[in-house]
Amino acid sequence: MPSLDPSPKEQRFSLASVIESNLQKRKSEAEYKRIVTKHYDGLAGKLTSFTGMVTGHETLAGLLLSPRAFDVRGCKRILDAGCGNGRYTKFLLKQADPDAFITAFDLSQRMLRRARRKLNSPRVSHISADLTKLPYPDGHFDAVVCGWVLEHLREPRHGLRELSRVLAPGGKLLLLTTEDTVTGSMCSRLWHCRTYNRMELMRACEECGLQWARPLYFSKIHRALRLGGIVVELRKE
Ligand SMILES: C[S@@+](CC[C@H](N)C(=O)[O-])C[C@H]1O[C@@H](n2cnc3c(N)ncnc32)[C@H](O)[C@@H]1O
Repeated sequence: MPSLDPSPKEQRFSLASVIESNLQKRKSEAEYKRIVTKHYDGLAGKLTSFTGMVTGHETLAGLLLSPRAFDVRGCKRILDAGCGNGRYTKFLLKQADPDAFITAFDLSQRMLRRARRKLNSPRVSHISADLTKLPYPDGHFDAVVCGWVLEHLREPRHGLRELSRVLAPGGKLLLLTTEDTVTGSMCSRLWHCRTYNRMELMRACEECGLQWARPLYFSKIHRALRLGGIVVELRKE
């Protein structure tokens, strides 16, 4: 049965809104999660390593997780939320202090298996979990990375509240998500997700106790052409 919850996104009519996938709106939350898990368990998930290289996301992830951008030095407990094939975990391992411990979770068992195969480090633990119900105590992590997962939630606050809850006061969150641009909407079709309007997302973050500390861009070109989605460093108040 389709969910009756109103979409949190304000209605706007634009080319991007016409192109954007409406799968989330058509399905119940449980059915949508089942479809997304199957999607990532299957070929689409398998291809994420390849598509990451072709689109440059692999390289760009390395640029973002650096002392000049999202600096994790000094953070001892780090979470990779919706880790996928381990792209961000790999760079977290490289940048974090040698005694830092990284926890990574995902909804898809197959993605977790791919991530474990890729990383195989005693400093990383992988578990199956849902972004809207995290199995961690309050204030447990010093830093969190959540890359391209929030767009799989119809209501961002359900994920943002959990991320905020597990972050220690003063902790930092690197959030990457699909923006409501034409390219973002085309991506939403490929990955069966929604897009976010930057201002609406900023409001949702603030309501969940996450301050919009600074927007980050993969490059000046991405900034000028509004490419690369919404990438932001947030701080837990
Ligand atoms: C586009 S991939 C991004 C993976 C990784 N963060 C990266 O940037 O390479 C999205 C991932 O989010 C996971 N996912 C989707 N909805 C989720 C949820 N509610 N809880 C946890 N993981 C979820 C998918 O299984 C998939 O592995």
